[in-house]
Amino acid sequence: MYKKIKVQPLAGALGAEIFGIDLSTEIDAATLAEVRQAHLEHLVIFFRDQNASDLDLARFACNFGELAMLPPHRQVPGNFPELLVIDKKPEGTLVFGWEWHTDTSHLEIPPLGSVLAARILPSVGGDTLFANQYMAYDTLSSGMKEMLKDLRAVHSNGRILASLAVDDILPPGQDCSAQATLSSVHPVVRTHPDTGKKALYVNVMHTERFENMTVSESAPLLKYLYDHATRPEFSCRFRWQPRSIAFWDNRCCQHLALADYPGQRRLMHRVQIRGTKPI
Ligand code: SIN
Repeated sequence: MYKKIKVQPLAGALGAEIFGIDLSTEIDAATLAEVRQAHLEHLVIFFRDQNASDLDLARFACNFGELAMLPPHRQVPGNFPELLVIDKKPEGTLVFGWEWHTDTSHLEIPPLGSVLAARILPSVGGDTLFANQYMAYDTLSSGMKEMLKDLRAVHSNGRILASLAVDDILPPGQDCSAQATLSSVHPVVRTHPDTGKKALYVNVMHTERFENMTVSESAPLLKYLYDHATRPEFSCRFRWQPRSIAFWDNRCCQHLALADYPGQRRLMHRVQIRGTKPI
């Protein structure tokens, strides 16, 4: 089925390594079509040994849509404004993305996907975990599916802003406490615009409560869904190497950056592709 690239699945649930492609060059249309297919099929794809600059990352991402702009407090002067620098310094304690989430689901239009490149890695640790949210939905009982069918949930960046404020991981001179809390309401089960499949769409980092319910009323069912959504059999784990790149689909998978390398640095560069409103 794949003629231009080699696609090697990483786990039963999701994730595949892609071979036979150089992301520092223009990719021809036939190869790109296969990469797109592999991304839809495996939800997160990985590339090894890539000499891709930040601009190469951006050019690769642009094959899948417009780049998503970063809020001003996340931009680093001297870089292009869509480039997120994730720099966990040796003295830092907070690992960006430390709990299960899908990226920036507090936005009205969350990103389609994220492209993340390893720049400096700890000697060991710092893997990223991913979980398949189609499987999370499909394995719910018919009764639970019926109950979730019309539910919507409020997502916010409040928890992240609070964490960033206590751990100085922002560029010098930028103050997180000045950032506004943003929130959006999304369906609890979303339909992927390309595959037409249903995926569970709540995550512990951003989801606050169900619409028209209180936080405490929502908490027990949300806790069940968070635990269910990230069951080990729905997941894969990526071990980074220098020059590795990951490209995940935020519409159908969650991820978590493992915080298991205290005292060491991990520097990652990320760009995101603009998505569509979840429906
Ligand atoms: C993220 O949550 O986007 C970062 C993931 C990582 O650093 O592994």
